[in-house]
Amino acid sequence: MRKKEDTIQLFDLWAETYDQYIQNPNGPLLGYETSLGEASYWLKEKKFQAILDIGIGTGGFIKRFHADEYHGIDLSEKMLEECKQNHPNYTLSLGTFNETNQASETFELVVSSFTFHEVLPEERLSACKETYRILQKDGYFLLVDIMFPSEFARIQAKETIARYWDDSEDYPIVMNMDNHLREAGYKSIQWKQTGPYHWAVIAKK
Ligand SMILES: C[S@@+](CC[C@H](N)C(=O)[O-])C[C@H]1O[C@@H](n2cnc3c(N)ncnc32)[C@H](O)[C@@H]1O
Repeated sequence: MRKKEDTIQLFDLWAETYDQYIQNPNGPLLGYETSLGEASYWLKEKKFQAILDIGIGTGGFIKRFHADEYHGIDLSEKMLEECKQNHPNYTLSLGTFNETNQASETFELVVSSFTFHEVLPEERLSACKETYRILQKDGYFLLVDIMFPSEFARIQAKETIARYWDDSEDYPIVMNMDNHLREAGYKSIQWKQTGPYHWAVIAKK
């Protein structure tokens, strides 16, 4: 796995061309657009007061939900700048899954897309606890990311994706993630596969 400084540098460099790249991505991000659509479908009829996107990037996921207030955090300043250009009305700040810098019980919905795999495996449980802390009672955590149902599936994907596979990433296994969510306190946890290498989960506080 990468160090935080290297992740910041990677996304700072990628920020300007990111929106263009994800229109037709290869490798583990294949099916990106469909996965965002499938994941947001769960809550497409609901209207929220305040919602937060962790690892908001350029804002491609959170914009699919209905809300009065849109908040986003990211560890890349350059990504936040791009997001601000796309969505001048969003409230944006630096933050990470483990240091959201948000007050307890603030949001009705916390979302995140294609970011959780950047959290170090040993910090994933505390990241789930952090999302739980900042959600209001009965709030939802909705996550979509590159994940695999088993170690076997991950190895198979690595062979299929071949040169597009990134060995510096440690993509989560669905069952481990499910255990973290339960241990953090979440209930009513539902999963669905949204793409060849993507899974989405919705969990209620
Ligand atoms: C692949 S991009 C996804 C961006 C956006 N959510 C999307 O779906 O297009 C990952 C984003 O997460 C940010 N990021 C990486 N690690 C993070 C962490 N630990 N906490 C918060 N943001 C992080 C990166 O700077 C980048 O903007």
